[in-house]
Amino acid sequence: MSQSEVKLLEVRDVEKIFSVKVGSFEKKDLHALNKVSFDVFKGKTLSLVGESGCGKTTIGKVILGLYEATNGSVVFQDKDIAKLSPAQRGISQKDIQMIFQDPYSSLNPRKKIKTILEQPLKIHTKMKKKERLATMLSLCDDVGIDHTYLERYPHQFSGGQRQRIAIARAMILKPELILADEPISALDVSIQAQILNLMMDLKDKYKLTTLFITHDISVVKHLSDYVAVMYLGEIVEYASKDELFKNPKHPYTEMLFSTVPDIRTPLATESVLKTGEIQSPIDLPQGCFFANRCPYKVDACEQSHPELVDLGNKHLARCPRIGEF
Ligand SMILES: Nc1ncnc2c1ncn2[C@@H]1O[C@H](COP(=O)(O)OP(=O)(O)OP(=O)(O)O)[C@@H](O)[C@H]1O
Ligand SMILES: [Mg+2]
Repeated sequence: MSQSEVKLLEVRDVEKIFSVKVGSFEKKDLHALNKVSFDVFKGKTLSLVGESGCGKTTIGKVILGLYEATNGSVVFQDKDIAKLSPAQRGISQKDIQMIFQDPYSSLNPRKKIKTILEQPLKIHTKMKKKERLATMLSLCDDVGIDHTYLERYPHQFSGGQRQRIAIARAMILKPELILADEPISALDVSIQAQILNLMMDLKDKYKLTTLFITHDISVVKHLSDYVAVMYLGEIVEYASKDELFKNPKHPYTEMLFSTVPDIRTPLATESVLKTGEIQSPIDLPQGCFFANRCPYKVDACEQSHPELVDLGNKHLARCPRIGEF
């Protein structure tokens, strides 16, 4: 590990099982996360990518403390927070902030922007009124919102402006880690690039550490330092962005990235990934989860579940035929 790569968050073998109703009486286990492990390094952006339902939001919620992990650990600031609620986490909770997908429902409609931004400063810092105002104004400049907006309410803004406000709110306490769950996918296409650029500028200026959840490969290409590819609740590949785009090892990654457009095209769920149904997280197959959609499948792939193999140079992949093709 190079000097510049300090681990900020360590996710190890996290499992999340939901008990879901099937039919009128029966309940079954839904395996939303299966032994998910990854590291997030200080000042870097890790993108979590994968199709709908693969568990991206669930891992985000476990990290935030909104869901308790069924098993596994999430180490942040030398503390395992995997089973702690936000309240139990105490002061360290302010160091993880979230930007949500929907800027319409994530801002309290009854509060002025000023109140939304000032409240965390009142609760978590000893700043005086003047200092709080100066902090807010400087952040408004950073995220590109006019100072006069502070006196207005969320409904007076467009989606893009609201997302800028949501970004300001996430940043106001200078958190150690930002979780961004599809922060641009609900926005107008014409606005998406602006918000992406803003996030990239802020990353450079504040050396932000971000876990960026997306299903959009073109976004991954722009924003990431590292990428974790998820499939059916597990990481199937993890590597630096450059390594992953140059040298994808998992057939699923290969399929996703083979269609990378430069401008916005949603994850190619409907084109290249037509092959086979996604397995259900309720009755998981005993072999490789991707086998039924994999062009390289052999019988052995369906016999036992593959482990995530460390290929060196921080590149890991989970495929029974790794290195064969
Ligand atoms: N509260 C819950 N109760 C039961 N099942 C849940 C719950 N939350 C998520 N799931 C299930 O867990 C799996 C993972 O869901 P999750 O929302 O994490 O996927 P995702 O990758 O974020 O998908 P999307 O791209 O659509 O946002 C899905 O099968 C989903 O139905
Ligand atoms: Mg989600």
